[in-house]
Amino acid sequence: MSIVFLNGDFMPKDEAKISPDDRGFLLADGVYEVTPFYEGVPFAIDEHLARLERGLAWMRISLDVGGLEAMHRRLVSDNDLESAPTSLVYLQITRGVAPRTHYFPKDPVEPTVYAFAKAWDRPSPERWSQGFSVATVPDRRWSRVDVKTVCLLPNVIAFQDAIEAGADDALLVRDGVAIEGAHMNFWAVFDGTAVTHPITNNILSGITRGIVLEMARENGIPVQERPIQIEELAAADELFFTGTTGEVRPCTRVDGDPVKDGAVGPVTKRLSDLFRARVEQVKEAARAPVA
Ligand code: PDD
Repeated sequence: MSIVFLNGDFMPKDEAKISPDDRGFLLADGVYEVTPFYEGVPFAIDEHLARLERGLAWMRISLDVGGLEAMHRRLVSDNDLESAPTSLVYLQITRGVAPRTHYFPKDPVEPTVYAFAKAWDRPSPERWSQGFSVATVPDRRWSRVDVKTVCLLPNVIAFQDAIEAGADDALLVRDGVAIEGAHMNFWAVFDGTAVTHPITNNILSGITRGIVLEMARENGIPVQERPIQIEELAAADELFFTGTTGEVRPCTRVDGDPVKDGAVGPVTKRLSDLFRARVEQVKEAARAPVA
């Protein structure tokens, strides 16, 4: 039985009870965050918690995020995930429990804070080298997807439509622009330059995206942040996605058509190698004895 965190306490999952009047359940009035751990070491947790704080501030939910990192670490250890190669903590905060109204509760309520930890798997090297397929799907989300709210119905429908079309993932398209995936940011490579959508209210500012941009710049790989038109994809040399559980994930087919020759390209491979090397560095730094 996994151990979860609910409103200040750690408990077996089947003891965690959330009210049917929780505004997260009734109104999707909440935000969430997913933070990766590698052999028990958190990766970019400061960035994940900073994004969470920005979301809470925008939603006008007041919560002290001070103890959240310790809570993440304890969940990983209580669930025996310290030796798991790859695991994550999912954290969700809702406005709390109150009679259902479309406006905020009149009397102050405590936010609901729920978190669980679980392992996830990297694809095998063989599977990764084949690349993944996507189906293009209309982006039906609202105009504030930069806030990581739990209003994920459009993402769920998009992903399901992509699966039913025989693809591994969805690529969300709005006004002719390839915006991002259902749960990952999207990139294209043209003549050696890695291009990704700029940070606007129409994409989630992915932590992995930010790290990959930084690593590309440090390693002399040209990058550009600009919208990618869907018509440009036919001329792309490579496509890939970035995200917490996808890391750097090659995309070799769009709507059944191969990207270039259908093989994983060198820029994707290099960025993936750099990303994994960064993970190893973070693990080593966490293990180094404090001087
Ligand atoms: N998804 N875009 C969307 C729409 C996302 O939901 C996510 C993350 C990303 C990548 O962000 P990051 O690099 O910070 O993981 C981009 C999370 C992991 C999820 O919903 O499970």
